[in-house]
Amino acid sequence: MTSGASEGSESDPMARIAELRTELARHNRLYHELDDPEIPDAEFDLMVNELRRLESQNPDLAAADSPGAVVGGMASATFAPVVHAVPMMSLDNAMDIDELMAWGERVERALDGEAITFVCEPKIDGLAMSLRYVDGELVTAATRGDGRVGEDVTANVLTIADIPPRLAGAPPVIEVRGEVYMPKSVFHDLNASASQSGERALVNPRNAAAGSLRQKDPSVTARRRLSFWAYQTGEVAGGEPVTSHRQGLDRVASLGFPVNPRITLCSAMAEVIEVCRSAIDHRHDLDYDVDGVVVKVDDLGQRERMGSTSRAPRWAIAFKFPPEERTTKLLDIEVSVGRTGRATPYAVLEPVFVGGSTVSMATLHNREQVAVKDVRPGDTVIVRKAGDVIPEVVGPVLSDRPVGAEPWVFPIRCECPLRSEFVQPSGEADTRCVEPACPFQRDQRVIYWASRGAMDIEGLGERTVMQLTEADLVRDVGDVYSLTVDQVEELEGFARISAEKLIAAIDVSRSRPAWRVLTGFGIRHLGPAASQALASAFGSVRAVLEADDEARAAVDGVGEVIASSIGQWFAEAPNRELVDRLEASGVAFDIVEGPAQGEEFEATLAGRAVVVTGAVPGLSRTEASAAVVARGGTAPGSVSGKTYALVVGEGAGASKLTKAEKLGIPIVPADRFDELLATGEIPQP
Ligand code: IVH
Repeated sequence: MTSGASEGSESDPMARIAELRTELARHNRLYHELDDPEIPDAEFDLMVNELRRLESQNPDLAAADSPGAVVGGMASATFAPVVHAVPMMSLDNAMDIDELMAWGERVERALDGEAITFVCEPKIDGLAMSLRYVDGELVTAATRGDGRVGEDVTANVLTIADIPPRLAGAPPVIEVRGEVYMPKSVFHDLNASASQSGERALVNPRNAAAGSLRQKDPSVTARRRLSFWAYQTGEVAGGEPVTSHRQGLDRVASLGFPVNPRITLCSAMAEVIEVCRSAIDHRHDLDYDVDGVVVKVDDLGQRERMGSTSRAPRWAIAFKFPPEERTTKLLDIEVSVGRTGRATPYAVLEPVFVGGSTVSMATLHNREQVAVKDVRPGDTVIVRKAGDVIPEVVGPVLSDRPVGAEPWVFPIRCECPLRSEFVQPSGEADTRCVEPACPFQRDQRVIYWASRGAMDIEGLGERTVMQLTEADLVRDVGDVYSLTVDQVEELEGFARISAEKLIAAIDVSRSRPAWRVLTGFGIRHLGPAASQALASAFGSVRAVLEADDEARAAVDGVGEVIASSIGQWFAEAPNRELVDRLEASGVAFDIVEGPAQGEEFEATLAGRAVVVTGAVPGLSRTEASAAVVARGGTAPGSVSGKTYALVVGEGAGASKLTKAEKLGIPIVPADRFDELLATGEIPQP
């Protein structure tokens, strides 16, 4: 087999390019279809690089379908928008068999006793893709985006061996739609080599597939060995008409696309339910992640008569699998203390892979939750992902409880050196450490002050804050502004230059806008949205603090709870002193700004309330709220019937999630937050 870079290829670049393209496509197939690669990754990369070099030297030979294709020599990290000829709709969900049956009844009613054939398809947990072929050539591969406009990822998609760059016998225009996914075996392989080379592991196959498609360099996508299942067509112009979905799938298969062999036809809902039940039992038997069963009406005429709502067809439904549960050992229950003193118990778990990622910690929320669940250190516990996102301890497996396991008792005192007392104010669910000098709270307050959503001090992250407080250089936020380069240089891991950088970053933070200062205080209930409203209304930090509760509460988006929480905070002598010290050390209190230049966003969320709970990757909670506000929305702290969406990340509050689920509020996982911001639409699972 000749595969590597061949000598003298430059003499006939056209032949070499053709050879490389064929070879790369073959290796791609060997790699993921047969699991039997003939060459190491490095050699594959060399071939891709050679191809790219030849193509850039011979632009007239560079075809869009090349596995090395890069537009204009370098693909862009931002992808061109593509307006879908036929919108890519989403699907309504059925969360259990009852909801599925209710959908079946609606279909039967709408079709008024006609015979119905249902098609059941595995719901692949990947990324929807629309492949547009004109005269048999793949011209555009686009992501779903908001359903109307997606992103052009053609160069990357061309590296997927399952997707033919050219079709024989295709109608003049055909859009083939389906799911790009990363096979589980590939995911494990890639992670095994990542761990050998010390690279960061991929989180789960879906994230990995999404990340792979967003690569700047298609050769990176090629190495990720993605796959594809076709399940639908978009625009089709010309060619033999089809009258059923199944015929459409057969045609797509005959054009060379992989169509899932587990697709089944059913002539009654009872059969559909059987298929769904069996799919739950066998969900782990496959080499790809499946998160449900898509049930569709087969007959295209019937589909037409049923029509669609604005976002989803009435003729299809996604039956979602119940959340996956796993058991693991509860190693211990520990308590973390936040910046406002809230003491939150959390489970320390033997790491377990559940719902797509490894879980080693899960919040237990509060004292009562631990008691209600009666989980005890040493127990085997059931763990799942609530809302498919948040790790949750469901309860103990009582039959496995070790002899002598004692109920967990909430500690009376904080673990901090002050051993400060924990109290549970009557009527409140939370237990608090009420000692403002508690070093744990203090650390969290400084971390919060420096965080990106507040004063945004580069280089002053959790680790450095801990070093500073341990060295007793920082006792509160005010001390940050009297640090010197010499002091910082003494800390482990710092040199002169890095110390100077940190001090410069602290200095820059003296000129932050007033709302950041207000946010940075970490006052209970006061987030960036209300801080911005207050700063604009009063013009300075001091004016906000010195106003009375009533005046503050009158500001749009503030209200009594926030207003009086600020009042209480400012009534405490140490807090007043802190404010004075910050002002004396040159922290600006009166910079009130509109949106910064270049930071004006489209009002995608105008008038919509988006609640954010838990961590959004790459953003602090406050930044996440600020992002909503910047797009015309509001970011309240609690879920109500008026909430447009609940964004949930790691560490989210279960009560918010439960309430949202009860009220039918859409839940958006934190890793889809940017889609929500960009489009204002609820991203579909
Ligand atoms: S059909 C109008 N079939 O699920 C119908 N979708 O929740 C459009 N998906 O965005 C979709 N497997 O990414 C369909 N067999 C399947 C599917 C499937 C996975 C995804 C797809 C879609 C999402 C909707």
